[in-house]
Amino acid sequence: MLDESQIGELRRETPGIGKIVHFNHSGASLMSQPVLDAIHAQLRREAEIGPHEAHVPVMAQVETARGDAAALLGADPADIAFVGSGSTGWGMAFAALPPLAAGERILVGRQEWGSNLATLQAAAGRAGARIETIACRGDGSVDADALDRMIDGRVRLVSLTWLPANGGLINDAAAVGRVTRRHGVPYFVDAGQALGQIPVSVADIGCDVLKGAGRKFLRGPRGTALLYVRASMRERMVPPFLNVVAAQWTPSAPEIRRDARAFESGDQPVALLLGLGTALAQARAIGIEAIRARIAILSDELRARLAEIDGVTLRDLGDGPKSGLVSFDVRGVPADAVRSRLAAEYAINVGANGVAYTPLDMIARGLDAIVRASVSYLNTQAELDRLADAVRKIARQAG
Ligand SMILES: Cc1ncc(COP(=O)(O)O)c(C=O)c1O
Repeated sequence: MLDESQIGELRRETPGIGKIVHFNHSGASLMSQPVLDAIHAQLRREAEIGPHEAHVPVMAQVETARGDAAALLGADPADIAFVGSGSTGWGMAFAALPPLAAGERILVGRQEWGSNLATLQAAAGRAGARIETIACRGDGSVDADALDRMIDGRVRLVSLTWLPANGGLINDAAAVGRVTRRHGVPYFVDAGQALGQIPVSVADIGCDVLKGAGRKFLRGPRGTALLYVRASMRERMVPPFLNVVAAQWTPSAPEIRRDARAFESGDQPVALLLGLGTALAQARAIGIEAIRARIAILSDELRARLAEIDGVTLRDLGDGPKSGLVSFDVRGVPADAVRSRLAAEYAINVGANGVAYTPLDMIARGLDAIVRASVSYLNTQAELDRLADAVRKIARQAG
């Protein structure tokens, strides 16, 4: 368990702390000074001795980052690709599957991330395939038994957003994995909100592909993301774009490398990867279990405080333990107005999600938008007080 002196130390080495109160860690968190230093130092080396030349002495550090990423997911380093965004990596992996055919089916969880859905819709539309939503249990979480009943020989992919963008639900990704493995259907998991927040084991989940951004709970820089691709799945994939690192030219056909670097771009943002590597090492040093425990306490406390406010409705799904994403709305105040007023009047950052991020779920629940306050281990009780007080004032003025 993280104690107050550790939290104090972690806050002191975070330049954003004290300037704003940040509850938008699920959008993008605050980088630490060591992460910033790692990025700056590499950019300076690139400017001083040449970018390619500056890459050589830090190649081993990039591979250390890959090792830390693999350890975070319980994977092998050869299964990890560094990509520019989770959605891009996910799209690359999807496009690497054999082409869809007319009448085939793709099954998604109701909280599927909007970008993944857009990629699927475009491909399904071209091929004449169908996207279908897996039924939810009473608490809004994915129903693995319903999935089991849906699967037939035409199902080409099951895709699940594990921790949705629009609230604290934690779907049972492992239950879905048991079903997909039994049927031998490829299984993609969007772990964008899980990385750096809760323990992740690709073996326990049983997924073939898993992705997540570096900028969220991991506190890495924007423009970095991890893509995990299981070795047995890679054998059946052809990445849609290749380059001289991903494949070797031969007169007949490109010889695609066997590890997940086949999914990487030929030129990498080395400075950002060193920043990501620093963030990964820091998350591992703090301990994901300890991070998870603190986020659970703080976010449950925030939910309890918000629930007491007249005019505030919590919108988190799920009967089980919840993530650090706390979703709510304020009667009579649009979510985006709550977000902008908290920023302008109280220097508090939260997110506001419309339908686009999780369209199937928002439409099914009749929601236009929610306010999203997401909690990190960096937050404190005093910051929870500030947020709850500010929301209370906004609700009171509206009511
Ligand atoms: C579940 C989920 N996936 C993905 C993203 C976006 O990140 P990326 O495109 O880098 O995967 C978000 C952001 O809110 C998210 O909540």
